Amino acid sequence: MKTSFAFLLPCLSAALDPRCSQFAIDVTTNATNHAYGLTGIDNDINIVSFVLDLSRWATINQTGPSPPNLPVSGTFRIDVQLCVPPRGGGRSNTLHLLTHGLLADKQYWDVQEEQAGYSTLSYDRLGTGLSDKPNASTVVQAPLQVEILRAITDTALRGTLSPAVDRSPGSYSPPASGPIQPFKHIVHIGHSYGSFITSAFIGSYGELSSAAIVTGYIPNSKMGLFSLARFGLDYAPTNNPELYGDRTSGYVHHLAIYQSAGDFAD
Ligand SMILES: *[C@@H]1O[C@H](CO)[C@@H](O)[C@H](O)[C@H]1NC(C)=O
Ligand SMILES: *[C@@H]1O[C@H](CO)[C@@H](O)[C@H](O)[C@H]1NC(C)=O
Ligand SMILES: *[C@@H]1O[C@H](CO)[C@@H](O)[C@H](O)[C@H]1NC(C)=O
Repeated sequence: MKTSFAFLLPCLSAALDPRCSQFAIDVTTNATNHAYGLTGIDNDINIVSFVLDLSRWATINQTGPSPPNLPVSGTFRIDVQLCVPPRGGGRSNTLHLLTHGLLADKQYWDVQEEQAGYSTLSYDRLGTGLSDKPNASTVVQAPLQVEILRAITDTALRGTLSPAVDRSPGSYSPPASGPIQPFKHIVHIGHSYGSFITSAFIGSYGELSSAAIVTGYIPNSKMGLFSLARFGLDYAPTNNPELYGDRTSGYVHHLAIYQSAGDFAD
C-alpha cells in the first residue's frame, strides 16, 4: 500500500500543477491617447492639486468636447505568465487572456483555480509589475492598453507569441525560448479596470475574441461616488525609492491597505 500511495501522490500533484512560464514580450503598437492637460505629478504636493482637480464635477464632463488627441507609438516590453495544462487536452488550445485591475499586477490571478484545463496568459499591464513604465500622464492610458491587448491577442492567434526575455528557462515545454503554438480561441477576461480595457477591446476588435468575461465592473451611474480622495495617494518614487525607483512622472502609491475598506464602504 505504502508504495502505491507514494506513487499516486506525485502523479496527482503533477496533474494539478499547470506548467507555467514567465517571460517578456516586445509589443510594437500605436494608439490615439488624449492630452488631458491635468496637473503633472512629480511630488506629493502635485497630488493634492491632481486629486482636487479630478474631484470637481466640472472636470469630468462627459458631454463636453473630448480632450485633444495625442498619438503615441513605440515598442513596449510586457511581462507575461503563460500556463498550459500539463497534458494538453481538448481545452488547452483555448487561451484565457487575463487583464488585471488598478493597484495590482498579474500576480493576483489564481491561475490554478481558474485554469480548469484551459491555457492562461496573464500579463502586467503597461506601467505595472515588471512591464515597461513610460510616462504615466501621456503614454500609460486606456487607448494604448487596448492596443497592447489587441497585439497580444493577435500574436497568440497567429502563433507568433515569442519571448524576448525568458525568466524561467526549462520550466515550460515546448521551451519558451521558441514560438508558442497558435491558440484556436481566445477568451478575454478582465477584473475592474481590466474589465474596462476588455470591454473597450471587444467593442473595437470583437472578431478576435471567442468570448469575454468582465468582473468587478462598476456601472457608470455609480462611478461619480467613487472618490479619488479616498485612495490616499502619494508619489510612488518618494514613498519607497527602493521599490518604486523605476517610476517617474505620474506614478502614485495607494497610501494604506485599510484605505481599500473605505473605497468600498458605500
Ligand atoms: C496606428 O497608425 C496607423 C498608421 O499611421 C493608423 O492608420 C492607425 O489609425 C493608428 N492606430 C491607432 C489606434 O491610432
Ligand atoms: C460640459 O460641456 C458642455 C458642452 O461643452 C457645456 O455646455 C457644459 O456647461 C459643461 N458642463 C460643465 C459642468 O462644465
Ligand atoms: C510626462 O509628461 C508630462 C506631460 O506632458 C510632462 O509634464 C512630464 O515632464 C513628463 N515626464 C517625464 C518624466 O518625461
